[in-house]
Amino acid sequence: MTAGGDCPGMNAALRAIVKSAVYRHGLQVTGFLDGFAGLLADQARPLGSDDVSGILTQGGTILGTSNRDDPFHVPVQGPVARTHVDRSDVVLATLSRHGIDALVVIGGDGSLTIAQRLGQKGVPIIGIPKTIDNDVSGTDLSLGFDSALSVATEAVDRLHSTAASHHRIMVLELMGRHAGWIALEAGIAGGGDVILIPEIPFRYESVAEGILNRVKRGRRFSIVVVAEGAKCPSGRTVVREIIEDSPDPVRLGGIGAVIAHALGALVPFEVRYVVLGHLQRGGSPTPFDRMLATRFGVAALQALIDGDQGSMVALNGNRIDRVPIGDAVSKRKSVDPAGERVTIARSIGTVFGDEQSLSECKRAD
Ligand code: F6P
Repeated sequence: MTAGGDCPGMNAALRAIVKSAVYRHGLQVTGFLDGFAGLLADQARPLGSDDVSGILTQGGTILGTSNRDDPFHVPVQGPVARTHVDRSDVVLATLSRHGIDALVVIGGDGSLTIAQRLGQKGVPIIGIPKTIDNDVSGTDLSLGFDSALSVATEAVDRLHSTAASHHRIMVLELMGRHAGWIALEAGIAGGGDVILIPEIPFRYESVAEGILNRVKRGRRFSIVVVAEGAKCPSGRTVVREIIEDSPDPVRLGGIGAVIAHALGALVPFEVRYVVLGHLQRGGSPTPFDRMLATRFGVAALQALIDGDQGSMVALNGNRIDRVPIGDAVSKRKSVDPAGERVTIARSIGTVFGDEQSLSECKRAD
């Protein structure tokens, strides 16, 4: 099954699972539809090698997905109020009706947390980490991140020429939830001048100082790359929408506009903002994600054959490993503000809008 937000590479992982199950191990595969909703409503289809032929390059998931359904927290409308009940037994009954021996869950931290709880109820589970946010612990990379990074980097590249021609400040808001991986890496790879991420609190004065410093060097434009989860100087995140009943009801979005407005009062340039949004989740997976998906899919099947249960396949350096799902979902993988990537970005003059950036700007003055 595929669960949570879609991303490029899910289909490639499904293909690898089905092909290795059929060709290598002689197993039958059933696909459940629309994430955990399919397990609750018993929506499934058999998956043979013909069903996964030609999907390697397709974005999204042929099984469908959902980031709203949690079998341990199903909404029920009572006569007076809405309550939530645990329907995980329905999932167990569905699995047993289909004669399922083990469940492979291609999901992010929310879906893998649900998978882990099903594992505690006796379902043999193997997880495959996927999320453009790259915030699952225990693995260096999650499936889909590289593809999203490539789209985000291209957006930074494309903003350069229009920003330079009009002498403007362009603010680009990227996804990532509460982690700054996409903004940090697209910012570095695309040569963004300012990078704002949730892990490094920023102040507008420091961002403006960085932009004005560039003016002194003759650069009459700047690109500001901001993660949707970056916190305003007041400490608030900007919320786009609350989706009740979703395991993670908060949908972030809107900080790009807030920053553009605030900077407009501090710098002598026009400021525009762009929200890249779901474009980061669409399209064909990069060659790296196709490789990773294939490696993860084959490794997940092997883990089940080895009798492993409750593990997640993971990328460790260039090796595929297994880690307990519990370890992977116990905490979010965040950007280390003192880590190598932030340090190299600072070394080449990237502004993070914090005190350190401010003193670096003053030193460069
Ligand atoms: O987790 C993936 C992700 O794309 C986040 O980066 C983003 O905050 C969220 O999903 C958006 O969710 P939805 O598709 O429900 O708007």
